[in-house]
Amino acid sequence: TAFTRVLGSGFVTGEHCVKNEALSKICDTSDEWIRERTGIEQRYFVEEGTTTSDLGVRAARKALEDAKVSPEEIDYIVFATMTPDYYFPGCGGLLQTKLGLANVPALDIRQQCSGFIYGLQVCDALIRSGAAKRLLFVGAEVHTGFMPWSKQAFDLITDKAQGELPKDEHDFNTKFRDRTSLFGDAAGAMVLGPTDNPERGLLGFVLHSDGSKAESLYVASAGFAYRPYVGGDTHIKEARYVPSMDGRTVFKMAVSKMPEAVHEVCQKVGVTVDDIHMLIAHQANLRINEAVQKALKLPDERVYNNIQRYGNTTAATIPIAYDECRRNGKVKEGDLVCFVGLGAGFHWGAALMRE
Ligand code: ACO
Repeated sequence: TAFTRVLGSGFVTGEHCVKNEALSKICDTSDEWIRERTGIEQRYFVEEGTTTSDLGVRAARKALEDAKVSPEEIDYIVFATMTPDYYFPGCGGLLQTKLGLANVPALDIRQQCSGFIYGLQVCDALIRSGAAKRLLFVGAEVHTGFMPWSKQAFDLITDKAQGELPKDEHDFNTKFRDRTSLFGDAAGAMVLGPTDNPERGLLGFVLHSDGSKAESLYVASAGFAYRPYVGGDTHIKEARYVPSMDGRTVFKMAVSKMPEAVHEVCQKVGVTVDDIHMLIAHQANLRINEAVQKALKLPDERVYNNIQRYGNTTAATIPIAYDECRRNGKVKEGDLVCFVGLGAGFHWGAALMRE
């Protein structure tokens, strides 16, 4: 049996770096609040017109270059996102065309903040079955698409304009501040392929879902649960295109389920938590990750966080953190890497990989 290895990785962010302070121009928030409660200091947003598949293409090019694999060699695309360019079709096919690839299969994964872990298991299965030999796996998000801001608000936070918003607009934006301060736009990519070395590559996965709390974090308006004659106007007025979020429930789920998943995957693979050289957790809130680290009793040098610089980039957080770890020598050949994440759904899971 062939095992799956990462052959190369890369990432990109949106074009505009937006500090917390800038968000306080368009709603009631502060650098201090966001920093203390979430750890986030800045995030990147795309310029209007740049889409999730565009960011995906940019990250894919970097990963291909890193892997020294040419686009023509790619025989399968897996694309994870919760902010696709269109409700359908998905971003995988759009990426295939933009990269000029042959008519290779392109599969889309949802699963929100656990999209990367779920997608990685699918990639592993495709490679181990022989269905793919050079697989391009992309996690990308343009969250700006669901921000309830006017063009003027966006111009203010990206320093393209000066001034103040009308009070009612400022107040409207404040209703969404718990969500709009968390997210950023970015894409991460990996090229994956088989290896005959059973000591290297992806070693095992555990995945779980619990649909009973789906409405703790969801977007109503892009779905078809509501008839247009009921929802059309309301969807826009009530901004149902912005995720509805019960932040505390998400927080509690993340803090309890992520350590459990790490223990479970270690047991499955036959290693201990102590054997993990680097824990790369989904980046939703620094306080969540600090609690996970504490529960697992891992020292600081064996945990990597970068939410301070990017915010929550959903399906892109783990490939971005992994790429940074590889480039700055925090993950070396032979190291045991653990990926863990929880996202809306709820869906969660963990994976172990020998670098
Ligand atoms: N700036 C200033 N004040 C704010 C902000 C903000 N950005 N956001 C919320 N507040 C206010 C609230 O309105 C509330 O005010 P009130 O007491 O007057 O009502 C107060 O701060 C406290 O709010 P809480 O929700 O209790 O604050 P908490 O400490 O729980 O932090 C947060 C909120 C950051 C959202 C936290 O709950 C969290 O991170 N939860 C997890 C969310 C998450 O990870 N989402 C993505 C998940 S993954 C996926 O699949 C997409």
